[in-house]
Amino acid sequence: MNQTFPIKLDDYNRIVFFTGAGISAESGIPTYRGKGGFWSAYDYEEYACQRAFDADPEKVWDFHEERRKFVAGCQPNKGHQVIADIQSKKPSTKVITQNIDGLHQRAGSGNVIELHGSLWRVRCDREGIVTDNTRIPLQTRKCSCGDYLRPDIVWFEDMLDTTVLQEAIQSVAKSDLLITIGTSATVFPAADIPLFAVQRQITTVEINQEKTPLSHYYTYSIQGSASEILSRFD
Ligand code: APR
Repeated sequence: MNQTFPIKLDDYNRIVFFTGAGISAESGIPTYRGKGGFWSAYDYEEYACQRAFDADPEKVWDFHEERRKFVAGCQPNKGHQVIADIQSKKPSTKVITQNIDGLHQRAGSGNVIELHGSLWRVRCDREGIVTDNTRIPLQTRKCSCGDYLRPDIVWFEDMLDTTVLQEAIQSVAKSDLLITIGTSATVFPAADIPLFAVQRQITTVEINQEKTPLSHYYTYSIQGSASEILSRFD
């Protein structure tokens, strides 16, 4: 029986979607934890941290370019599409994502706050320049200054960009509805984001395949697949 969604979106004007890897699972992109999780196949200390990059940039770039190639072959799914459609009807709607795959943008979402960076940007830390780059493979892995370019993603042990984090927190604090989708709520400070809504008694909804350590804080916690549940919106 197709249970309706517990709230009516028309009752809200400042909606924030907060997403994790679970919203991209139905696009064929592995989540990080749980069965078949990305980190069960790859040791992040070898491929996804500054130390590994400093020790062997070519090895980390080989790994990263494989991920770019794989994700480029994946398509946004119904869940991404529903969010983009809601944004087009309600332009004040914001998306905060932990994902680096760019699928929200490819589904047509704007105003996407990428807490953990993007597969589709590279940066030179010496020159402090960040550039969009979707070329597969990269034309060059080096900046014109001679240094290696670095993927513009937040690796383990990296600090998050405080401007981006503050923008996300402000968006949640000003929202009247927070909908969290597909995150295990285990990586901080991102996992704290929903609590800024809970503290302000803002209506909160969690959509996830399984319960998380934050499920009991939400106004509604719904277990199931992101695209199936999102498609129940009126
Ligand atoms: N629909 C809804 N939820 C799903 C689906 C689905 N189809 N498939 C999986 N999930 C849920 C899982 O139950 C899990 O709780 O999505 C969650 C994904 O959790 P993680 O794999 O831990 O991903 P995420 O929470 O986004 O990880 C946060 O950790 O490794 C770092 O930087 C990386 O951004 C990432 C961060």
